[in-house]
Parts: sequence; structure tokens; C-alpha cells
Amino acid sequence: MGNSLAISGGPRLTDREWPRWPQPGDQALKSLEDVLTSGRWTISCAYQGRQSYERQFAAAFADYCGSTLCVPTATGTSALAIALEACGVGASDEVIVPGLSWVASASAVLGINAVPVLVDVDPSTYCLDPAAVEAAVTHRTRAITVVHAYSAVADLDALLDIAQRHGLPLIEDCAHAHGARYGKWPVGAFGTAGVFSMQGSKLLTCGEGGAVVTDDPEIAVRAEHLRADGRMLRRDAVGVGEMELLETGQLMGSNACLSEFHAAVLMDQLDLLDEQNARRTRSANHLTGRLGELGLGLTVQETSAGTTDRAYYRYAVQLPDELLAVAPVDRIARALTAELGFPVMQTHRPLNDNPLNRPSTRRRFATDAEYMARVEPSRFGLPVAKRIHESVVSFGHEVLLAPLDAIDDIASAFGKVIAHVRELAD
Ligand SMILES: Cc1ncc(COP(=O)(O)O)c(C=O)c1O
Repeated sequence: MGNSLAISGGPRLTDREWPRWPQPGDQALKSLEDVLTSGRWTISCAYQGRQSYERQFAAAFADYCGSTLCVPTATGTSALAIALEACGVGASDEVIVPGLSWVASASAVLGINAVPVLVDVDPSTYCLDPAAVEAAVTHRTRAITVVHAYSAVADLDALLDIAQRHGLPLIEDCAHAHGARYGKWPVGAFGTAGVFSMQGSKLLTCGEGGAVVTDDPEIAVRAEHLRADGRMLRRDAVGVGEMELLETGQLMGSNACLSEFHAAVLMDQLDLLDEQNARRTRSANHLTGRLGELGLGLTVQETSAGTTDRAYYRYAVQLPDELLAVAPVDRIARALTAELGFPVMQTHRPLNDNPLNRPSTRRRFATDAEYMARVEPSRFGLPVAKRIHESVVSFGHEVLLAPLDAIDDIASAFGKVIAHVRELAD
């Protein structure tokens, strides 16, 4: 009998062109040209008589996030490190970090000389498990970071309760969740600070960028210093040719400023975000319905009970054990990729077993043997994160911008691969 699956030489389920990401809006080229000729390509150059794109974006994004203040940064990683330091976290302090995330969740903590404590996630939302957080808090814990992962919002009520009872700042990492809402508010507005990445794959992107949002003016001022080599933006009038950044000497920083080019692109993209998110949600709901109709035991990632709007950064589906007994998750992901023509992948590797999370390879962290033992990721157990990694496949949000008949093809591809899974067995 011949092979049916595309990965084993059979016909592909579809040859259609899928939407690509990122997608520039109508304003981007004009704004970029405006920056080019403005005489000011970053806020760390002299003021040129008009508001920078960086300031425009800070105001617009704070408003979008339901926060009063926003400090844009060069990357999401720097935003995370800056938010933690601005909340008072430093050398040797423990920071709770979800065990299923991109390496930056741990490396940003290491970067400020603190200790990531890897904590397991909830099996249905893939976000930080509040009970595991409670068990991990010690007298050395100085902050909790939570990631709203893939398409879920974490259980913020439970996490805020833990943070408040222990007097700890909660930092919401919203790198996957631009525009998601919990109760009445957008994510990022619940924690002591919210952190965003605008790296090229994200729902709101300018290639590389980030932001910290907060309602606390002291945290915002510290974040400003930390991202601009110890300078903050002047609050009084500034003349043409003068520096808008003031050297206060209050708090040493590094340079993680967002350039004017990046801020201009973000202004363009922010205008598009809500409409794109609505299309993604419509497609995701449609696909969830179609996958359910297949009756094949596929379990779509859930979100916390308090979520009012999801933002689909990645659409994630858990495969049933019977299927995984025949073929491993990575082979099934590759078979789906071959049918559909866009990448279907496993989730992040758990941070206790991730080749990108190896503090021992960096000389800068080798302060002493005790510290090195504390930051060794393999000392943590993350059974739920491991199970998710070994059973969940996911794909990127741009696919969800396709028309609904294309979304039907995705469900058909799952049906086809599952029907012929024996072709993937050893
Ligand atoms: C959850 C999470 N946090 C932080 C980051 C870091 O953001 P950046 O790549 O902009 O430094 C990422 C990047 O993908 C992420 O997924």
C-alpha cells in the first residue's frame, strides 16, 4: 500500500499561500521617511522641536494597556530585567519564573544577578500554577514573574493574592499577549509592572523592541534611568539642539532605548492590532469547533476563568496519549507541517532542560560555587511543563489571519495525520 502522508511522499493536503508576518500598515513607510529626515533617530540625540515617536508611542501604549505610564525599551528581555530591577530586585534575590517559557524568562533574571526559581505550570493553561508558586516562595523570594503563555491569560486573581500576602511584586510578562484582557482590564495592568516584547514574531512588532508599563511613578522613573544610561527625560521645556535626557546621577543604567525608527513602526502597528486580534480569535474559535467535531481527543489550550479576551500568539493543541504511543510529538508536528506548508512545532523546552538556559557557560555568573549551584536549572523538577512539551503542537498567529476555509484545512490536516499516524511509527 502506498503512503498517504506528505511527509512520507504522499500528496500535500494543501498548497495554499498562508499569511506572512510581520505585515506593514499604510503609515509605516511615511513615518519611517519622516524619522529619516527629522534629524533625530533616537531620544538620546538632541531635541529637534517636536515630540519624538518614542514619546508618542509611550503615551499611546500606556493608554492601550490601561496603565498610566510606559517606558519603551530596546527588547522584551531588557524590559523584563529593567522591570525587576525597578521593583528593587538585585544580587542573589530569588525570582519565581514559569518553567515553560522562552529562555529570556530566566536569562533576564540571571542578567541582574538574581536567581531564577523555576516553577511548574498548570496543565490546561500552560501558565504559572498558583499552588506551585505558593510552595516555592521562601524568605529569599523578591518577585514573581508570570507569562501569559501562547494564547492564555494566567490565573491573575490567585497570583495577585499570593503576591499580596507575601508582599512581593508581580511582574506580568505579556510578550505573547498584546491586547488580551482579564476581567475589565488589559493584561499588564494587574501586576506591579507589565512587560512586553515587540520582537519580530510578536502580535505587536517593530523587529526588536519592548516596553514596561506601570501605574507607579517611582518604578517608571527607575525604569527610565535603567534604560538610558542613568538618564531620564526632562519634564520641563527643552530647546531645539538641547538634550531631552537629563543626567540625574540617581541610578546607574545601561542603554536599552527604543530608536525612533522602531517607535514609528510601533505606532503604525498599534493601529492594526485590535482588528487583527479579532480576526485571530474568530479563526481560533472556528478551528476549536472543527477540531472538536473530529472527535479524536485533541485538547486545545485553555485560559483562566477570569479571561475576557484572548490574544492568540500561538494556537496550541494537546495530542491524545493513544496517538503519542504510536509516534512522538515532534514527528507528528513535522507531518502536519508537510501537509499544511507552515511550521507546526512543539512548545518551548522546559527551562530546567533547555540547551539555551545554561548559566554555567557564562563567566559573568561564576561569582562563587554556592551561587552557581543555586542558578543550576537542572535542580528544578517541572513534570507538567515536560508533559506539555512532549504532547502539545502549536503554530503561529499569522496563520489565523487566513480566511475561514483555510482554517478548515488545518482541521483536515489533523484528521489526515491522525488517520495515517502508523506511517510515522518507527
Ligand atoms: C515570554 C517571553 N518573555 C520575554 C521574551 C523576550 O523578548 P525579546 O525577544 O524581545 O527580548 C520573549 C521572546 O520571545 C518571550 O516569549
